[in-house]
Amino acid sequence: MNPILTTERLVLRPVTVQDHAALLAHWTAPDVRRFLFDGAILSPAEITEVIDDSVRDFASAGYGLWLIRETDGTDLVGTAGLRPLEDLGLEVLYSLAPGAWGKGYATEAARAVVEHALGPLGVPEVLAEVDEGNAASVAVVERLGMTPFEVVPGLLGPMTRYRRTR
Ligand SMILES: CC(C)(COP(=O)(O)OP(=O)(O)OC[C@H]1O[C@@H](n2cnc3c(N)ncnc32)[C@H](O)[C@@H]1OP(=O)(O)O)[C@@H](O)C(=O)NCCC(=O)NCCS
Repeated sequence: MNPILTTERLVLRPVTVQDHAALLAHWTAPDVRRFLFDGAILSPAEITEVIDDSVRDFASAGYGLWLIRETDGTDLVGTAGLRPLEDLGLEVLYSLAPGAWGKGYATEAARAVVEHALGPLGVPEVLAEVDEGNAASVAVVERLGMTPFEVVPGLLGPMTRYRRTR
């Protein structure tokens, strides 16, 4: 299964090795990496690893990392995906290029990913882990209808874990 997800304004397609340069540029932008990787700058080798993991997970399990583009656009708007959160289940993750903030794209893309997980993939619940200082991301999970269930310590401070069930 290599699913392309479409929404009203966006197309989400699984990442491939051809997306390496675009992902490197996107994820190393300071405003994007701040909460996504605890501020760390991913190396080219780490980006390769993320892509390889995603290609493998799509092939075996139907989830991974999607690139977000506008339906009629070519530029990378951001990423959204699913990955294991420890042994608790799958968490949804998302990032937008700063120029794409404030249009509802993260919520629209993440909603498609959550619905893919709870629907076709058949997982019982989707999780999210958000730094309490990341107000924009807290707002996204709230708009997705996710419910907080615990707070855990993180490198940048407390992180709240959320879940949404079918
Ligand atoms: C987290 C992140 C994706 C949130 O981006 P965002 O643009 O604030 O979130 P959305 O795309 O859902 O947009 C919501 C905003 O668009 C506005 N909006 C404008 N037009 C809209 C429309 N047509 N439909 C819906 N919302 C719209 C909403 O009112 C809201 O504005 P507000 O923040 O002033 O209330 C972004 O800050 C980011 O990429 N951060 C870096 C990576 C990161 O931290 N990821 C999360 C790790 S847990």
